Amino acid sequence: MATSFSYDELEAIRNQFPILKRQIKGNPLVYLDSGASAQRPVAVMEAMQDYASCHHANVHRGVHTLSQEASAAYEAARMALAEFLGTNPQQVVFTKGTTDGINLVAHGLAEVLLQEDDEIVLTHLEHHSNILPWQEAARRSGARLRVIPVEWDGTISLEKAAACISPRTRVLAFAHVSNTLGTILPVAELVAMAKAVGAVVVLDAAQSAPHMPLNAEQLGVDFLAFSGHKVYGPTGIGILYMAGDWPDRLPPYQLGGGIIKEVRFDGTTFAEGPLKFEAGTPPIEAAIGFAAAVKWLQNLDFKRVQSHEQHLLNILRNALMELPGITLLGPGSEQASVQSLVIKDVHPFDLGTLLDQMGFAVRTGHHCTQPLMQLFGLPGTVRVSFGVYNTAQEALSFAQALTRAANLLR
Ligand code: ALA
Repeated sequence: MATSFSYDELEAIRNQFPILKRQIKGNPLVYLDSGASAQRPVAVMEAMQDYASCHHANVHRGVHTLSQEASAAYEAARMALAEFLGTNPQQVVFTKGTTDGINLVAHGLAEVLLQEDDEIVLTHLEHHSNILPWQEAARRSGARLRVIPVEWDGTISLEKAAACISPRTRVLAFAHVSNTLGTILPVAELVAMAKAVGAVVVLDAAQSAPHMPLNAEQLGVDFLAFSGHKVYGPTGIGILYMAGDWPDRLPPYQLGGGIIKEVRFDGTTFAEGPLKFEAGTPPIEAAIGFAAAVKWLQNLDFKRVQSHEQHLLNILRNALMELPGITLLGPGSEQASVQSLVIKDVHPFDLGTLLDQMGFAVRTGHHCTQPLMQLFGLPGTVRVSFGVYNTAQEALSFAQALTRAANLLR
C-alpha cells in the first residue's frame, strides 16, 4: 500500500483551500460533499485570475496578440487534459461538463449508429445524466434500453452483465464509480464484453477522475467524460474523450461559429478534430482553471491520494458500524471514498439539516439516481464524499455528529 500524506503534508494541502477556513453557523466547516463539487485550490484561482488579468481575448478568431495568447493558453489547457487522460489533444473536446459530454455522444450515436431494435445497455446505478440522454437516443432511433441489475451490496454481477450484452448491443454506457454508492465498476471486464460484440463503450468518469489515474486509451473505451469541478477545478467545463476516428464520425452537436471549414448558403463543411464540437466562444477561463486543477492533482501523486482517501473511508465505516439503526450502503471494498448511509426512522433531509447546523456539509436526497433509490426502496440517503483535503479527525467528528443528530431525531 502506498504511503498516505503526513500530518504536515495534509496541512499544506488544506492551506491551499481558503474556503476550508470558513465557519458555518459558528462551527468550523467540515466539507464532505466533494462528490457534488470539490473545492478549488489557490493554484486554480490564480491561473484563472492571471488569464483574466493579462491575457483575455477571444480564441481562434484574431491575429492580435491577446487573441494569440488566449488561443495558445486554451490549446495548452487541452494538451494538459490530453496528458491527464494519456491521449493526444485531437481526441479531447471541451464541454460544459459530464452531462454535456454524454448528451453530445448520445445525440451523435442516435444519428450515425443506432437503429430500430438495437440495444443500449446501462446499469441500474447510473446518474440521471447517463440515463436521460440514452432514453432520448432510444426514442429518436427506435433502439431499446437494457439495464444491468445492481446487487444489494451495490456491485454488479458480471454474469448478469453478460446476460444483458448481446449482438444487439450497440452501446454500453456506465459509470466508472457510482456517485451514490462509491462502487468502482469492473471496467476492464465490461469493456471486454462490449468489444466482443462490437459495441461502443461510453464511460462516465465524473466520480472516478478525482480519485484514480485514467488512461483513456488503456481503458479501451470509445468515449469518456468528466467535469472540471469534481477534480478541484471550476464549474461549467468538462472534457469528452473520443477514441480513434470518432471525432470524424460524430456530427457536430451544436452549430455556430468556430466549428467550420467553410460556410456557404448551399452547404457547410466542418472543422476537423475537437473544434467541430465547440461551437461559439468556449469557456476559455474555465478551461485554463481546469488544466491547472488536473496538473495540481497529478502533482499530488494519485497513489497517495487513493491511499489517503481509502484510509478516510475505512475510518468512517469502522466508526459508524455500531451506530444503532444505521445501514452503510456500498460494497466496502472496491469503493471510492464515497459513503451513503441511512438511519432507520430518520429522514436524510432532517439529518442533513441538523448536520449543517454543526458545520458538516453532506449531500442528502436521491443524488440524481432515482432508479437506484427505487430499487433499494429508499427516499434518499445521506452521502459523505471525501476529497483529498479531508482529515481522519473530520471523519471521526462526522461519526460523532451523526450519532448526536440521529439521537436528537429519533
Ligand atoms: N453528480 C453530482 C453528485 O453526485 C452533482 O452529487
